Amino acid sequence: MKIILTGACGFAGSTIAADLLASRDGIEIIGVDNLSRPGSELNRPILTKMGIKLRHLDIRNASDLDTLPPADWIIDAAANPSILAGIDGRASSRQVIEHNLLGTINLLEYCKQHRAGFILLSTSRVYSVAALTAIRVAVIKDAYRPAAQKTRGLSSHGISEEFSTEAPLSLYGAAKRASEQLALEYGSSFQFPVWINRCGVLAGAGQFGKADQGIFSFWIHSYRWRKPLQYLGFDGEGHQVRDCLHPRDLIPVLLKQINGATGAPVCNFSGGTRNSMSLRQLSAWCTNRFQAHNVGHDMQVRSFDVPWLVLDCSHARRQWDWHPQTSIESVLEEIAVHADTRPNWLGLSRSPD
Ligand SMILES: NC(=O)c1ccc[n+]([C@@H]2O[C@H](COP(=O)([O-])OP(=O)(O)OC[C@H]3O[C@@H](n4cnc5c(N)ncnc54)[C@H](O)[C@@H]3O)[C@@H](O)[C@H]2O)c1
Repeated sequence: MKIILTGACGFAGSTIAADLLASRDGIEIIGVDNLSRPGSELNRPILTKMGIKLRHLDIRNASDLDTLPPADWIIDAAANPSILAGIDGRASSRQVIEHNLLGTINLLEYCKQHRAGFILLSTSRVYSVAALTAIRVAVIKDAYRPAAQKTRGLSSHGISEEFSTEAPLSLYGAAKRASEQLALEYGSSFQFPVWINRCGVLAGAGQFGKADQGIFSFWIHSYRWRKPLQYLGFDGEGHQVRDCLHPRDLIPVLLKQINGATGAPVCNFSGGTRNSMSLRQLSAWCTNRFQAHNVGHDMQVRSFDVPWLVLDCSHARRQWDWHPQTSIESVLEEIAVHADTRPNWLGLSRSPD
């Protein structure tokens, strides 16, 4: 089976490429990346050595995709994945839409032409920022927890697929949401399979980290090497909560999807409540693992930031018999081991300010 994996040199792409290749015989992976993410070039020789054929192409250019051979599936993990992309002055709004939406459209045209299936790595950021911000929370054991309330798609397990996807989402989230819709339309109009895997925060060793993307990696590397850190927004105490998922845990479901499974096409995949943590709790973990480090406070809330975002993966459990395999403790320890020997990792893998 031939698979085109876009964003192959990124964190999720490179992890999926390596683990998919190792998962069973008979899989050929063609990796596509434009190397726009600082640090992604570091994965190039590693992937090539594994036997992954890498193509230095840009999915924004339809003609770049003309050079690709026919394949059975595209797994799309190419994006500018920052919630602040397009508004923080690093990339223009047009660039964000071109990378994250126009790129998808070009890939869907490829799937139409070659009758290839399409798998989108989508995001929890397709859920409404206004609705997420409206969730009432209370601080329990150094972390926000949702208070009892009646909101569609919200339960003690987290945010389900039923939760609002109304604007505002951020340019990143909106481009992903539009990509989801178009992928489903293309799949039904031109009869090819489409799966939308809405992932929560992904984390693991080798992740490129910034304050607005790759937060677990950013925090642990910064703590280890005593770089400035701040609890931003809300009460300024770091009570905001995210869950995390190692991208290798997606392999079992990806294998089922490319092997012709059927079911509802849109599904959350995430660490869930058991693998969730506040920044303050993450600092406590870091103090225990390394040594204490001073974290500053800034009450100013950043655009699109939300106090609590944990995905409910009950649907994935029912439909795919899927659950996250890697505990949050293992994810954090894996990042810490990586950080121990790489004092300059964040500098290598961050866009210049
Ligand atoms: N990291 C997370 O927490 C997270 C959470 C949910 C969903 N996702 C999704 O997973 C995917 C991968 O994210 P990641 O964390 O690995 O990000 P990443 O930045 O590490 O990887 C993205 C890769 O895509 C490449 N790329 C960007 N634009 C491209 C283009 N136009 N043409 C070709 N290549 C291009 C980059 O060079 C990079 O190597 C994205 O689609 C993202 O939306 C990530």
